[in-house]
Amino acid sequence: MGARATKHFLSDRSASSGGAGAGGSGNDSSETVAKFTYAEGRRFHGTEDVPYFLPNDDEEADRLHAQHFMLRAVVGGNYITPLNNPRRVIDVGTGPGTWIMDMAVEFPECDVLGVDITPMSESTVMPKNCRFGIMDVSKGLAFEDNAFDMVHDRFMSPAIKADYWAAHVVEMARVCKPGGVLELWETDAMLRNPGPNATVINDWFRRISSLGGIHMEKIWDLPEMLRAAGLVVESEERYEVPMGESMGPLGKIGWHDVSTVIRGVQPKLVAAFKLTEEEINERIVALKPEVNERRCYWQMKVFVARKPLAA
Ligand SMILES: C[S@@+](CC[C@H](N)C(=O)[O-])C[C@H]1O[C@@H](n2cnc3c(N)ncnc32)[C@H](O)[C@@H]1O
Repeated sequence: MGARATKHFLSDRSASSGGAGAGGSGNDSSETVAKFTYAEGRRFHGTEDVPYFLPNDDEEADRLHAQHFMLRAVVGGNYITPLNNPRRVIDVGTGPGTWIMDMAVEFPECDVLGVDITPMSESTVMPKNCRFGIMDVSKGLAFEDNAFDMVHDRFMSPAIKADYWAAHVVEMARVCKPGGVLELWETDAMLRNPGPNATVINDWFRRISSLGGIHMEKIWDLPEMLRAAGLVVESEERYEVPMGESMGPLGKIGWHDVSTVIRGVQPKLVAAFKLTEEEINERIVALKPEVNERRCYWQMKVFVARKPLAA
């Protein structure tokens, strides 16, 4: 699967007509070889210039699979913009590729591509019209201009540095066809309605992410960045993703999600802030009743922006 995807992406790249990351950026899978580090039994991305702080192992892939189905249920589908027989769709930072597989089944005539810096999807058996490639998207998107009917990006707030977000949006706009659409689902991963424990955990996430130049709240500036990239912002929908088991079946997945995220980041918190494993575990135990009582949630927004037909 990886080799097929790589070949496809490289042929795109050589056909590129320019733009950051296209032709000569060096951003292809032969150079973006996934390097890993391990801590407390978890696997992380191991390249120094990659600030992503969440793990990328099987446990994380399982979390992202479950999260996909929770978010799909919260929103009521894989996308909110009406899609008219799309031929080529890309998911930027696809993780284990659950969204691309879902889309490939829904649109069997569509070529659905996913790229990520980590080969979390490579071992997955995918529908025939679904492909995966390795790419560091913070070095640009190695595709030709106007290549895709839809560009999708979900929960990349912990992946893109604050000072690269505007350029990232310009890249996504560049590879989108005139008349095509960008749909971005984002959260800053802060627990809303926090009590004392959620406040501490929110602070841990803010601090650990900022060490690498990540400021997850940057995504709230997306409407301005999308307009600055020449797109027309069509909608900005707000959702609450429930994080407590008392909040129904989705809240149960939400609690699994948030508690697994905290455990996943634990090795980084221990290393950076001299916290102990016990302290973090106690905090997770104390958080559980708090999210239920206070009905904590993640705020998520879905931004839809269209590339004008003519500039
Ligand atoms: C929170 S996960 C979201 C995954 C997927 N979009 C989803 O919604 O399930 C963020 C993803 O970004 C990827 N990522 C982090 N830094 C990246 C980079 N520089 N280039 C490409 N992907 C990156 C991670 O490997 C991870 O799969």
